[in-house]
Amino acid sequence: AAELAVMPVSTVYRGTLAHSTRDEALQILEDFVLGVDAEGKIAFIEEGQNVDSLSQTWGFQTSDVIQLEQHEFLMPGMVDTHIHASQYSYSGTALDLPLLDWLNTYTFPVESRYKDLDYARNVYTKVLKRTLRNGTTTACYFATIHTDASLLLGQIADDFGQRALVGKVCMDCNSTVPYYKEPLKECKDETLRFIRELLKKEYAHVKPVVTPRFAVSCSSSLLHTLGKIAKNNDLHIQSHISENKEEVKLVKQLFPDCKSYTDVYLKHDLLTDKTVMAHGCYLSDEELKIFHERGAAISHCPNSNLSLASGMLNVRNVLNHKVKLGLGTDVAGGYSPSMLDALRRAMDTSKVLSMQDAQHQTLTFEEAFRLATLGGSEALSLDDQTGNFEVGKDFDALRVNMCIPGGPVDMFPGQGPKDISLLQVNACVFDIFAGDDRNIAEVFVAGRRVVPFPDL
Ligand code: GUN
Ligand code: FE
Repeated sequence: AAELAVMPVSTVYRGTLAHSTRDEALQILEDFVLGVDAEGKIAFIEEGQNVDSLSQTWGFQTSDVIQLEQHEFLMPGMVDTHIHASQYSYSGTALDLPLLDWLNTYTFPVESRYKDLDYARNVYTKVLKRTLRNGTTTACYFATIHTDASLLLGQIADDFGQRALVGKVCMDCNSTVPYYKEPLKECKDETLRFIRELLKKEYAHVKPVVTPRFAVSCSSSLLHTLGKIAKNNDLHIQSHISENKEEVKLVKQLFPDCKSYTDVYLKHDLLTDKTVMAHGCYLSDEELKIFHERGAAISHCPNSNLSLASGMLNVRNVLNHKVKLGLGTDVAGGYSPSMLDALRRAMDTSKVLSMQDAQHQTLTFEEAFRLATLGGSEALSLDDQTGNFEVGKDFDALRVNMCIPGGPVDMFPGQGPKDISLLQVNACVFDIFAGDDRNIAEVFVAGRRVVPFPDL
């Protein structure tokens, strides 16, 4: 017999796959087989009828194939491109003030508590469980200014097996909470220590991200310093931009030499193809062009934008400018840690815009699905590893069950095994609009099952 030239697969699924590609916002593949290799990468995706020849090529038993039920499908794990892990403890509360007052009144006092590692461990463990259960396989986190607690967040993400970018927050000015900021020198040294120590751990899927809080909270010297650190170490960058009108006005006053909010980050070397900026509600077309030229991304955080009454991002305009775009929960400005919620709010926001402007081309469900998955992976420059089902990418996936007894979704007569196309075409719509985390039966990151939770 010919020797196997390929790595044997460790798991093979057969059933319905739903994912996005660049050309097709939602592609539904009925009766496909997907193989995952020993490293957790997708080895093949082929039509179900080829299973016998695949089993010979790849050396698996057809009896070992995991057959999905008719009321189940696999979809890519979702990518939360902007979430404050440290704010999870007060999510769902304190949404009665506009952004700048909200930060000083609620956020900074809470974040200051993370010098206490026991407090940090408690909240961060809950964040990891909650986001994974809700199908977030990749998250881009803000922690706090505290290096050790931020390192702990990285460790907990690694323990639970989530793919994560983790940022130690940098801020050296304009906080009305005097005990919640760092002098420039300390901020620089601690950022370098955070990066060094996190990289030293060699976590498979957890990486540092340079995190100036936003232009309001950072001196020009700090922004320059962070731009240099990101450049020298080829790191991701995250921050906030043009979220709220008062904030935009304040940034103009603080940086009179810069043409725009975007220009502030541009001038400080913080707008790269590994940058993701949250919100962007008030960016001009000119600024969007700069984002496109630089390959920088926007994280659309619709729940937060509505909850803090910050604004509404015109997603269509961002897409028309070919700017990389993902969705973010922005906990706790956004009250929900669920990416399904972010997807729904993104559509709500677009529908409100279409009521105000008949020319606005409403975001389709399929486009929102893509933003929550592939779009997010592009926004974080992780689309070589995750975001959809492509051979060679890591198997980051959700096994969705549309029919949990007592669960939030019902199936109706005529929607059964024999009625495959009706059911499957509606499958994602069904679950994603009507379902919740109860429908997410299993979650995988790089082939490892992370929900139900591993025994730690
Ligand atoms: N801008 C600066 N910091 C924050 C934050 O923590 N949340 C939100 N929504 N916007 C910010
Ligand atoms: Fe935020």
